[in-house]
Amino acid sequence: MTEPRVLAIGTPHAFRGQVARSLQLEDDYVDWLPSVTAAEESVVVKNVAPHVLVLSHEVKDADALGIGDFIAQSSPTTAVVLVREQPTPGLLAAAMRAGIRDILDRSADDFELGEALRRAIAWSQGLESLGGNAKRSVKPRGQIISIFSSKGGVGKTFLASNLAAAIAKKSDREVALLDFDLKLGDVFSYWGQEPTGSPAELQSLATLDDHDAIVNVGTAMTERLWAFGVQPDPAAEPFSGDVAGKVLRTLRSTFDYTIVDATNDYSDQTVAAFDMSDEIWLVTGLDVVGMRHLLIAMETLQSLGVPRDRLRVVLNRADSQVGPSLADVERVLKVKIDLTIPSSELVPRSLNKGVPAYFSDPASEVARSIDRIADKLLGTPISHHRSAAAGRKKLRAVFGIG
Ligand SMILES: Nc1ncnc2c1ncn2[C@@H]1O[C@H](COP(=O)(O)OP(=O)(O)OP(=O)(O)O)[C@@H](O)[C@H]1O
Ligand SMILES: [Mg+2]
Repeated sequence: MTEPRVLAIGTPHAFRGQVARSLQLEDDYVDWLPSVTAAEESVVVKNVAPHVLVLSHEVKDADALGIGDFIAQSSPTTAVVLVREQPTPGLLAAAMRAGIRDILDRSADDFELGEALRRAIAWSQGLESLGGNAKRSVKPRGQIISIFSSKGGVGKTFLASNLAAAIAKKSDREVALLDFDLKLGDVFSYWGQEPTGSPAELQSLATLDDHDAIVNVGTAMTERLWAFGVQPDPAAEPFSGDVAGKVLRTLRSTFDYTIVDATNDYSDQTVAAFDMSDEIWLVTGLDVVGMRHLLIAMETLQSLGVPRDRLRVVLNRADSQVGPSLADVERVLKVKIDLTIPSSELVPRSLNKGVPAYFSDPASEVARSIDRIADKLLGTPISHHRSAAAGRKKLRAVFGIG
């Protein structure tokens, strides 16, 4: 039998040592990566598939199920084992569907963990010895960008539509634009159209893997851009986190970029989108209520386990004549504004025309700011933020109010 190849994923870093100890190995014999994103990239890039990939209790359920699906497709001889603090209802069934071999309670001792890992390794080595070590080459997964604000009417849908338009135009990549507001989404209005699909059709994405069938659920808006949404129904319920995660995983493995126009709440559906997003763009205006929502959103997302470096701040209507200056806001709130969009009557005008401002007036300031935003996304990463918690305490100071 070959040496066991073990990949431990997720914080704390001490998890690697725990895995090594349980298998009576030196730490160096266990590879460790902090996140499922890094693990997916490693499996795509490296030629050697691990025998077992073990996920720490700090890896979120949606991420764990996502990598289970991914490994089942890309490296079918790799066994996936999950450590959970407290398995949530429905997790077992979802994990089985995602091809996860075992779930262990976090309270399991080294002996139990070692036993589970040895079983998983034996299963994997057995498959390998039968010649099943066909590590399939898979397309690197795409990126998901969610546009969010807990305050309504700040320009999320305008940004999502125009950003998707710009990425599809500037790159030769395929882009999905997902309207996740199942009650009253208005992404399609920005394109002069009405969605015709039902929530059940959108949900069917969860089980599709054929490119043509997937794009058929959407509506082609440009040559490389498909929008996904449902007919307005104020009584519609959001998807469960599990369904939302599956829909997003299908889009992620089909499209190079998926732009999600998220709803203004923290429903399971929206939280699943946060979990799976490579970047979350928080949109705000330069007003006290908007800033307050922004700071609370930054705190809430981090308390939900979203790492700070996935958050970006977009200031819409940045040239507002009333209120503090952008520099004041950055300095006192200690929030870096990554991207700005000016106010322009072109925005409501193009909405009424049903043509995104990015197309209807490409020379405008608004279109050029969208260009810059798309360039940043397609190019270099954006620097990290400073502390929102500290900044929040200083709201008073910026606005001189309570
Ligand atoms: N930069 C801008 N300049 C002028 N008008 C804007 C700008 N951004 C957005 N608007 C206008 O503000 C209104 C709200 O925009 P949008 O629908 O994108 O907000 P939203 O955050 O998606 O709202 P909701 O919370 O309802 O989903 C629209 O009428 C839009 O035309
Ligand atoms: Mg909207």
